[in-house]
Amino acid sequence: MMRIIDSNKINFESLKQAIAKPELYEKSTDRFWDDPYISQQMLDLHLNPEIESASKTKETIEKETSFIIQVTEMDKNKTVIDLGCGPGLYVREFAKTGAKITGVDISKNSLQYAVKNIQSDYENTEFKKMNYMDMDYQESFDIATMIFYDFSVLSEDEQSILLSRIHRALRKDGLFVLDVVTENRKPDLDERISVYESSFWSSKPHMEVFKVFMYENPKTEGHQYTIIDEEGYIRIIRFYNRLFNLDDITVLFKRHNFIIEKVYKNLMGEPLCGNSETFGIFARKI
Ligand SMILES: C[S@@+](CC[C@H](N)C(=O)[O-])C[C@H]1O[C@@H](n2cnc3c(N)ncnc32)[C@H](O)[C@@H]1O
Repeated sequence: MMRIIDSNKINFESLKQAIAKPELYEKSTDRFWDDPYISQQMLDLHLNPEIESASKTKETIEKETSFIIQVTEMDKNKTVIDLGCGPGLYVREFAKTGAKITGVDISKNSLQYAVKNIQSDYENTEFKKMNYMDMDYQESFDIATMIFYDFSVLSEDEQSILLSRIHRALRKDGLFVLDVVTENRKPDLDERISVYESSFWSSKPHMEVFKVFMYENPKTEGHQYTIIDEEGYIRIIRFYNRLFNLDDITVLFKRHNFIIEKVYKNLMGEPLCGNSETFGIFARKI
């Protein structure tokens, strides 16, 4: 683990490096989705119906699932995979159609919640702990979903790998339903230094340096949290959000044999407008 204290002194060079702009797609130094403490904080946020944070609000999820069910004609004859399903808030709504739903996630905590609270009520659901980058399904699903801009978070290489895997996992004419953030999103270039007794990242006292970085090629927003504990140990958590435009994503999907059939402002089906900050996309396997 990186440390900024050397022989009882703060090593300012290490500190500078720890808060500097990373290369685009440079990884976090530590895991977070499946870190036991962070994933519990994450689960609490997922389950808060009022806050759009780890998941969208309950109201939005209800509107989105209803629209997705209508457009995809989801019913008991369909099989669905929800990638990065979290605690299964979308799976629960999809399951009400009678479709067979598989939820995939990397977070043990979220999946435990899903098995206990959703699989127990809906026999037509199952949950798998898996990195979706490693999934190896073949012609198994009619519909794949990836919701809450998780596709935007992936590097370009990861996007390509995942699209190939989703293509293989879908049956003939299968649909991939996702939302992404767009280049119309105004970056919030807020930077802050905070000191906490405990926070989302740690139950112990620590300092957090939060910075936002922009990248132009491809247009991407990067969020970096440098977390320094009392002993000077550092963890750096990084998220990237590719800011798509419609041409880029159409070309990318075409390259992976998907045709974008329908695009909305979001997955609630609001019509697309010139300054949409998100796209809700229905792409068909060709
Ligand atoms: C922003 S949350 C969205 C969860 C869910 N789609 C929702 O909207 O309620 C992203 C989810 O993706 C999961 N995740 C992130 N990377 C993953 C990976 N490589 N494989 C599987 N799940 C992943 C996280 O654990 C988390 O539950």
